Amino acid sequence: MLEKADSLRTAIRGHEALVRIFPDKEALSLAAAEYLIGAVETTLQEQDAFSLALTGGSSPNRLYELLAGPCRDRIPWDQLHLFWGDDRYVPRDDPASNQGAAFRQFIDHVPIPAEQVYPMPVDISPAEAAAAAYQETLLDFFDGAPPTFDLVLLGLGGDGHIASLFPENHPERSLTSVDEATWVQAILAPARVSPRSRLTLSLPAINWSRRVLFIVHGAQKQEAVRKIVREPNGTLPGAYVHARRQLCWYVDKAAWGV
Ligand code: 6PG
Repeated sequence: MLEKADSLRTAIRGHEALVRIFPDKEALSLAAAEYLIGAVETTLQEQDAFSLALTGGSSPNRLYELLAGPCRDRIPWDQLHLFWGDDRYVPRDDPASNQGAAFRQFIDHVPIPAEQVYPMPVDISPAEAAAAAYQETLLDFFDGAPPTFDLVLLGLGGDGHIASLFPENHPERSLTSVDEATWVQAILAPARVSPRSRLTLSLPAINWSRRVLFIVHGAQKQEAVRKIVREPNGTLPGAYVHARRQLCWYVDKAAWGV
């Protein structure tokens, strides 16, 4: 049963965003699963594949459990293609690996064809070569055109970072048009972050997506949410994210500060 959510429309650095505020992480995760299922349904009426870029971190873990459990049979996995918005540049079996977590939490438990799952190639070194290889994967999948993911899932760091774009790697410097942009970057995260070596979609690659859905819960995200969503011209990385069709922020009350 979907919990009632408060919703509002706002502008974030001039881009419309739909914000939905949920009582807790469970209600947020259920609604995020329904959002994904609805987006897949709508998209597959227009095309025969749905490209989804996953987020790392702990925010999606309940969503991923739902995808492997009660929602498993509501998704046509043979028409889904899974990518990552970022990953730590560590082996898949490293506890810090985003792809490792996603495989454990749902990919190993759903009937998606293995050739339709595109983990970031953390076995290619150096990291710059791995980023370039993933860019080639995107070029190939999107037939040489800029990556137009049907949905990008994003979490939000307490410092306002998204994917592996941290305030110190100021996104404005990478705000070139998607045609000229590097779509996948090897990033050395700030020293306060571990692991530091990361692979990440660039901001232009994220913003060229059809839909972006943020899933943000917990009081520790309150300040970042306030600075990004509740102030019109924030300068944290999350404020620079938009989408070509729909930008949604799903937050729980703790992150919204009510
Ligand atoms: C990562 C994520 C990162 C994450 C935020 C929030 O690789 O760590 O992609 O951007 O979404 O750090 O992390 P939590 O969901 O664990 O709070």
